Amino acid sequence: MLIKIAKPHDLRDSDVTPESVYLSRRRFMGGMAGLGAGLALGGPAHAGANYADVPEGNGPAWLKKKIDDTHWKAVTPANSEKDTLAPFDDASGYNNFYEFGSGKADPARRAGSLKTQPWSVVIDGEVNNGGRFALEDLASPSRFEERIYRLRCVEAWSMVIPWLGIPLAEVIRRAEPTSRARYVRFETLVDPEQMPGQRSAFSLIDWPYVEGLRLDEAMHPLTLLAMGMYGRELPNQNGAPLRLVVPWKYGFKSIKSIVRISLVEEQPLNSWQQIAPEEYGFYANVNPRVDHPRWSQATERRLPNSLFSPNTIDTLMFNGYADEVAELYAGMDLRTHY
Ligand code: MTE
Repeated sequence: MLIKIAKPHDLRDSDVTPESVYLSRRRFMGGMAGLGAGLALGGPAHAGANYADVPEGNGPAWLKKKIDDTHWKAVTPANSEKDTLAPFDDASGYNNFYEFGSGKADPARRAGSLKTQPWSVVIDGEVNNGGRFALEDLASPSRFEERIYRLRCVEAWSMVIPWLGIPLAEVIRRAEPTSRARYVRFETLVDPEQMPGQRSAFSLIDWPYVEGLRLDEAMHPLTLLAMGMYGRELPNQNGAPLRLVVPWKYGFKSIKSIVRISLVEEQPLNSWQQIAPEEYGFYANVNPRVDHPRWSQATERRLPNSLFSPNTIDTLMFNGYADEVAELYAGMDLRTHY
């Protein structure tokens, strides 16, 4: 994320891995699966894609089993035929995860030591059925689905990533929100021993990293709790073992390594809004018509790219998911609620 002092975040040539890294064959990702709830789904975007070249993860046996039992049907919204999956090396090598440093290569270099087993998540606040849940117990009632989503960072780069996970809505429903619950607040682990970025005297973030969604956003069928990507466990740098993916919002909403999910009455103050409220809001819906105060949001650099092939494309309203989510914001001024 860019804060006040502009830093060069452009992808360097050396960061880019050739596209040949992916797409041999492990699993056939067949036609489309309906997400239900009126989603307009397009044709098979990546039929034939597979992840044979993606290294095996070191996740627990239960997670490997769940991945094997995944609904191997890519669920992608309309007009995704033009999307090309980012090579795994880009998706796992060019990251934002400030707990491990602010450089794009820092998370891949430093997050390996994060201990992700055992892992538990506290669900609390306005719920009748809260508590501390082992990740396995949180995941076990739901079946994994593969979702191929665009990830559009507020810094104006983007990638297309195949996630594995469960709808957040299922987890929230099981927690039985009370009638007072209006928002969902998420927190990342705090452990300066394991997370060097949390030891840095220069860090702008008041740890833990916090994010939030309105309850209807959290319950939307596109909103995913991811535990894997590219047919395997999440790499630590991508937010293992549990992260949020909200594809119509800027990437900073997709909080990593979640340890707490709280149903709350008041709108949570998310980390980037706390740091620079005039630059980063609560909603953070991808919107090519509302620029960041210091740069345009009309276009984005789709990774992989290079100096000679910047791969600049137009940014789409709600990151291309308008058919699915625009109604959530009917009547709202998205310029005020950025
Ligand atoms: N979550 C935590 N805990 N800490 C972070 O620094 N960065 C966010 C988001 N989630 C971040 C985080 C930002 S700015 C982006 S763009 C995405 O993670 C990047 O996800 P990726 O590295 O998997 O592409």
